[in-house]
Amino acid sequence: MKIIKTIEEMKERSGRLKRERKSIGLAPTMGALHEGHLSLVRKSVQSMDKTVASLFVNPAQFAPNEDFDSYPRDYDRDLDMFMREGVDIVFMPERNTVYPAEYKTYVEVHDLQEKLCGLTRPIFFRGVCTVVLKLFNIINPDTAFFGQKDAQQGIIIKRMVKDLNLDVRIKILPIVRDKDGLALSSRNAYLKNTQRQAALSLSRSLREAKIMVEKGEIRTEIITAQIKDIIEYCPEAKIDYVKIVDAENLDPLDIVRAGTLIALAVYVGKTRLIDNIIL
Ligand code: PAJ
Repeated sequence: MKIIKTIEEMKERSGRLKRERKSIGLAPTMGALHEGHLSLVRKSVQSMDKTVASLFVNPAQFAPNEDFDSYPRDYDRDLDMFMREGVDIVFMPERNTVYPAEYKTYVEVHDLQEKLCGLTRPIFFRGVCTVVLKLFNIINPDTAFFGQKDAQQGIIIKRMVKDLNLDVRIKILPIVRDKDGLALSSRNAYLKNTQRQAALSLSRSLREAKIMVEKGEIRTEIITAQIKDIIEYCPEAKIDYVKIVDAENLDPLDIVRAGTLIALAVYVGKTRLIDNIIL
């Protein structure tokens, strides 16, 4: 496994792979790896000639009051995990080469970036889109792999790819969960014991919503109320949003249909957790 830290070397490498007609898969990550990340890497290793995993905690997607400094970092462990999965190249650029002092350019996907998570995290998606477009330009992947865990992120990246005519295929892979249902997240590391119990209310409420729909309930108002009841029953959980929306334009719906997205964000203590299902 090759570790590449400079943009020049990464471009040179990916250019060479292209000339050799090798297909390139990319799994972008911020490290603190878990099985969710590894599911993306595994899919790429299976289906592409060469797999690049990126490891970069992207400052542009953290607001000043957010957890950029305390975000879990354990690069030795991450590199070991990538190696075991058969990753060919890990791209780990330095912050000041991705965003040098004179940096001015950002990508915004209007409308979509302002909804759901965008309401509480107004600069988040422009930070994500900017770094992801940079990674696409530097690595030139044929396919990039993202997780359904970050549903809005996937929808926005697909929109960016269409709008900017990028030659990359976006694959969204299912949410990987712990045995107890909690969606894996690097931020789960922040949860104390009792908080983890509260965190389980996210997936429990979504399972309950799915059962309601299977039993015939289609009114989003009723389903939303039930989800909120389940989460609010935990004193440590504070709802940011619960939304039932169209999975392409993220507009709210009155009635659920196949393919509808139920997405939620909840604070457990200071930790903000997200989860979702597609019906
Ligand atoms: P990060 O949170 O490290 O996640 C990297 C990728 O792993 C994302 O595509 C995310 O959706 C996926 N992922 C995380 N938890 C998952 C789970 N439980 N099941 C399946 N996939 C999961 O998302 C980011 O980093 C950043 O925004 C990034 C795209 C790297 C840009 O900085």
